[in-house]
Parts: sequence; structure tokens; C-alpha cells
Amino acid sequence: MEKGYIHLKTKNTSYVLKVNDYGHLENLYYGALLSDKEDFSVLENKQQNMLGTSTIYSGEPDDKYSLDFVNLEIATIGKGDYRKPSLLLEHDLGFVSDFIVIEHGYGKIDDLAKNSLPIPQNFDHYYYVLLEDKISKTIIKLDYLLFASANVIARRVVVIKSTAKLLKVASFNLDMVNNHYDVYYTFGAWANEIRPVRTKINPGIFEISTLAGPSSNRHNPFFLLLGKETGLDFGKAYGFNLIYSGPFKATIERNAYNNLRINHGINDETFSKVLKEDEVFITPFAILTFSEMGENGVSHNFHHFIKHHIVRKEYATKARPILLNNWEATYFDFNEQKIKALINKASTLGIELFVLDDGWFKNRNNDYTGLGNYEIDNKKLPHGLKGLSNYARKKGMKFGLWFEPEMVSKDSEIFKNHPEWVIQIPGVTPSTGRFQYALNLALKEVQDFIIQNVTETLKSADISYVKWDYNRNLSDFYTLNNAFSTFFYDYTVGLYNILNALMSAFPALLWEGCASGGNRFDLGILSFFDQIWVSDCSDAYERIRMHSVLAKAYPLSVMSGHVSAIPNHQMLRHIPLQTRFHNAFMSGGFGYELDVTRLTPKESKEIKEYNAIVKLFQNVVINGQYYELHSGSQKDKKAYGVISEELDTALILISNGIYQTLPEINKLPALPLNDEYIYNVTALSQATDIKTFGSLLNMVLPKFIKHDGAIINYLNKRKSAEELVKMPVLETFKVSGKALKGGALTLYPEWSATGVSETTRMSQDFTSILYFITKSD
Ligand code: GLA
Repeated sequence: MEKGYIHLKTKNTSYVLKVNDYGHLENLYYGALLSDKEDFSVLENKQQNMLGTSTIYSGEPDDKYSLDFVNLEIATIGKGDYRKPSLLLEHDLGFVSDFIVIEHGYGKIDDLAKNSLPIPQNFDHYYYVLLEDKISKTIIKLDYLLFASANVIARRVVVIKSTAKLLKVASFNLDMVNNHYDVYYTFGAWANEIRPVRTKINPGIFEISTLAGPSSNRHNPFFLLLGKETGLDFGKAYGFNLIYSGPFKATIERNAYNNLRINHGINDETFSKVLKEDEVFITPFAILTFSEMGENGVSHNFHHFIKHHIVRKEYATKARPILLNNWEATYFDFNEQKIKALINKASTLGIELFVLDDGWFKNRNNDYTGLGNYEIDNKKLPHGLKGLSNYARKKGMKFGLWFEPEMVSKDSEIFKNHPEWVIQIPGVTPSTGRFQYALNLALKEVQDFIIQNVTETLKSADISYVKWDYNRNLSDFYTLNNAFSTFFYDYTVGLYNILNALMSAFPALLWEGCASGGNRFDLGILSFFDQIWVSDCSDAYERIRMHSVLAKAYPLSVMSGHVSAIPNHQMLRHIPLQTRFHNAFMSGGFGYELDVTRLTPKESKEIKEYNAIVKLFQNVVINGQYYELHSGSQKDKKAYGVISEELDTALILISNGIYQTLPEINKLPALPLNDEYIYNVTALSQATDIKTFGSLLNMVLPKFIKHDGAIINYLNKRKSAEELVKMPVLETFKVSGKALKGGALTLYPEWSATGVSETTRMSQDFTSILYFITKSD
């Protein structure tokens, strides 16, 4: 067995391991790229000699090697390492393990370690390390996949042979010196997903974990470590995520020696596993990335990785059809006539796909009943799905459909005829979520049933898009064959089995994932679904925050955002149509979710113009490089942008949030464009509602008009304030790439309590501006 250093490299990062004199696999360094010529001995751990209560590994009187001071790739208990283990086994001789490297090298990832857990595609190199536990004789393999351009290392553990009971198998363990790091992570709940926290790592154990069933809206499985000084564009930043859609646990432990131990993987609570003969246990892959370019640096790595190595190639770079979803337009209350009216109107607005959401199958007039059987409700839709999809085709549109295949209602045949398929404990009344029950995807029969059920419907009409929903957390965990201790893992692998089968049968379909919004927004599900409905909160102000926080780890191309009605159904907030458009447009799955038959003439006109813009610029949203940007001093302002690969087009969205009237010199946030190019910068003319001005109108009108009366209401539906007074605020500039990079361009002033002119941006609460930056010929 070869001792010495292992240098795993990506374009800009190095990960240096060493098989040390004791046979342990040490991590000497993870960070910016080092040269192969580097004398790696300088990286060696020299702090191994603390005596006192330290445990000396070898037990030799003249030895000082103590595992508590070693940065380990596999962390176990019982030989002097008193931090949290990444691998815990219970075997004939107890709980103590001691893994020694027996082989390592580059090679080919083997088929032995294959189930439906997604493996990121097109890696540049594969490295493996085989280790044996001297005590239990368990053999494990660490798989490392290197993604050079993405600067990502993916790692997992495969337990190849063991008679022990596996109690914890994290996908990776990383020990490193704590250089004043903060942890950046997210928390949330239904309709309030993805709230960010950045906090100092204090001594003790920090954990984000879930046991909800899906990866969940409680915490997204990604987190970052940021140096104290690290900002958007500078400073050290580490990023971590897991390619898995089930319950996970990530721990960061800071000990008294200022060392960090980070591990991430399937949640070990409720987990244990005894391998059968010839069985292996495979953890999901976790990913690690590093950048010296701050938060945007790690985001770029993550985004590149997801676009090139996670999502299906069918839609990775492709613009998506503009859609209309009927959920917030009708909820369950529709019939064929209503749907046709929506399709009709949509087809005149430049909308390209109609999505029939929940409520199209029998007994589905509310969320108490109907799930589990996709027999069409002929009362609502006498000509069936085929009739509707043909109608959409005739109108030049595609047709998409909503499903919730993992769930059944109590009135379903499945619930009655196959109680053993439903997740419930014999003799215990099962708890419900949204009045429904979950099927046990761990069972092969259930997987086959779902595949068949969905396949039949997909073949029954001309369907080109699927929204796959999942609207409850799991409870009453129980499964046949006593496999309780791997329930979540088996469920998740079962889900992937189903999705593998359906993706191979219907590769051309556009698949959207949804779990009451973002209750399953992770890299596992993104290995199958092309985009995800971010949240059941469609309010643009909330969404701008959610999208920009998600964008720390996921590209805009995988997020879905819709323009919905005002007042918004979740927040009762009134947000201008332009802001609603801006927000939804800056996400890959762009569309509308409101009753388009009730639009005012002004709204219809605006929407048509917006859709034309989408066709011109969506490519940049999907394929561009994302940047979160700095924007002025107002604390609720947010800005982010995308730049095309050729640096010839860019978009910048500035959202005001809760506006403050501060007459501040506004600069266009700096974006790294091409120094040699000249760019046209322009924003859409604003479309302020006349009613916004309320009683102020009477200050300028020659005759008194009731500011909420019939005349104003009539005008308001037809014209914007700017059109009415023929004062369209049209910002257009010609600027060099250098000036844009330097953040030199001064924008028009914003409304600050008094005075309007044709250079005043009518900024108010929840307005936003979208700048289009195109290379000038
Ligand atoms: C969930 C989804 C919504 C909608 C409804 C339908 O809440 O997140 O978008 O599809 O289900 O019941």
C-alpha cells in the first residue's frame, strides 16, 4: 500500500490527503490551488503532542500521536478522538472502530456500488480509498469525484463488507482549523421558505437536520462557511450540499483546540443497518466546494456544478415555455368552459403552455378526497384531458398536468384495498398531512403502481409538462419486512427508482418538482426534475428574497416563479405588475398564475410586452452567470444580475422592498463586463398606477376629481400615470464595460417625497427596476 500524499485537484482548489504512519487517512489541506511541486510536508499536522488527558493512540510510552489532534477523513470513536464521529458501528466487540487505509488510487467507479441514488455526471477524475476497521473488520470505500471546472469534490462512503450494525454513515467528514468562520445556513417553513442566517461558529456543536421525510423546508441541505471578513466578492468561502432528498444531518463541531469538524449525510436518528451477505451500503454523494472570491465565488461553483453535472441535459440550457397555471386562478373550482377561456386568453398574450393544476380527476373538489386515482372528472371536463390538450394545441399552446403520485386520500381504492401500501403502523390511527396519506415508496409494488398510474395518464393525452407535487411530511413511519431503521433511505431510493423509470420513458417532457413549494428543494430531486416551484407564497417581495438566498447554492434556471394576482393570495400585498414580472422573469420556470380573463386592458398590454421580452432575454437568465450585487444604503434594497457567457448581454434587477425616501445618488451596481465593449443600458418604462397618487392628483388636476372615483378607476385600467401625462421615464445610457465594471454609471434619481419629472423613477414600496445591458454594435 502506497503511503504519502494524495493531491486531489480542481481548477482552483486543492484537497490534500495523507496516509500517515499509523495508516489513518488525514486531511492536510482544503483550499486554494497548490502546485504539485509544493513540499507537502509543510502542511503536516505538528500539533500531536498535548498530554494531560489526551489519549495516546499506540499506547507506546515514547509516542505522542493522539487522534484528537488529527484532521481525519473518517472519524470514529474509542481510540482517542473525542469529537463527533462520522461513522459509528456496533459490532461483536462494542462500538470502537479504527479504520486503516488498505488501498487507494485513481480508477473507475464500480457498478457494485450502484442503486438509484444519483451520481453526478461527467466527472473529470475518480479517486478511491479503501479502508478496513482493524476491530470489526468492516471494509469501506471512500469515493471522490473531481469536477475540475466547477471546483467541486463529491464524496460518499460505500460500506463494502461488514458484520456490524451501521449506526451512522455520514457522506463526508472534514476536519480543519477554524479561521474565524461564520456559518451561513437557511431555515423556514411552508410559504416562508429559505430564510438566511449568518452566525459565528462558537465552541460546541451546531447542527442543521430534519426528520420530516423530504429534505424539507425546515433547513435546506446546503450551508456555507465564510471567513469573518468574507463578503459577496472577496474572501474565503466553503460550500457544502448533499445529493439527497430525504432527512439529513449536517454537524459542525468546534472544539477547545479551535478545530472544526464538519460532517453531512443521511440523518442517523432512526437509522441503522445490518448488511446481508454480499450487500453493500451506499451513502448519497455530498459535495464540497471552495472559493477565494467570496459568496459569489462559491455560488458560481455550485451553479456550474448543477448546470453541468446534476440537472438533466434535456433542459439544462434550454429556454422554457411561458406558462399559465390555473391554481391561483381557479383552485378546485373550474369546468371545461372556464379552462378553455383561460387558454383562449393566454394564447393572445404570448403564453405558450397551459398547466392544469389540481382538481381534474374524480372526487377532487377539495383537498380531502380524490388522490390516488387519476380517472378524469367527466363532469368538469367532459372531453377529457385529450379534449383539453387538443384545444390548447389548436390555440398554438402546449399542455401540462399536475400530479401528486406519492399520496392517496382516504376515499381511494388504494387506501381501502392496499392498507399495507400506506405508511401507517398496524393498530395505530395514522396521522395526516393536508388530510392525505403517503404511500410507502420503499415497496416495489408501490413503485410499480405509481409508474403505471402516471404512465397511463401521460399517454392518454398530448402532455408536454408535468408538475409533480408532494404535499405533506411523513409520519407513522413503518414498513413491511421490519426495515424500519432504513425507512427514510429506502423511501428516497424508491422515489429515485420511480423517477428513473419515468424520466427514461418520457425524457422530452419538462418536469417540475413541487412539495407544497420548497419542501423538497435539493440536489437529489434536481437530478430528475428540471425546475422546482420555490414556494406556495407567490408574493414577489417574499420571492425576491427567497430566490436570492436560494441562488447562493442553486442557479436561477432551476427555480420557478409566477406572476400572480393582487392582492396576493398569501400576503394580501399589492405589488405592481412590473415588480411581479421582474421577479418571476428572473427565474427559469417563468409563468403566470392568475385569472387572465379578468385582466384590465392595461395589464393585458403590459403582459404581452413582457412576454416578448422573455423570449428575447430568457436565455441569459437560464445560462448566464449569476451575481448578487451591492446596491445603495437602503437596508431593504436587493440587487442581483446575470451575465451571458459571451459578456454581450446582462440583466440587473434592483428591488426596493420597503422604500425609504432618501435622496441618494444611485449607481448601477458594478458588474464584471467586457472592458473593451460599449454597452446600451436601458430599463423598461415604468407603469405607475394612476391611483398611486391618491389625493395628490387634485394638486395637479384643473378640476376636482374623486381620487378613488369612477373616472380614476376607468383611467387606471387603461393607462399608466406616465402614459397619461405623456412623461414616460425612459432610462437609456451608452456606457463602456470599464465604467460598468467600476460601478460608475449614475442612474436617474428616485422619488423622494416631492417633485416629479421625466427623469424621476417613481420608486415606492415594492417597486423594482430591471436593467437590460446589451453590447452596442
Ligand atoms: C400545492 C402546490 C400548489 C398547488 C396545490 C394544488 O400546494 O404547491 O402550487 O399545485 O398544491 O393542490
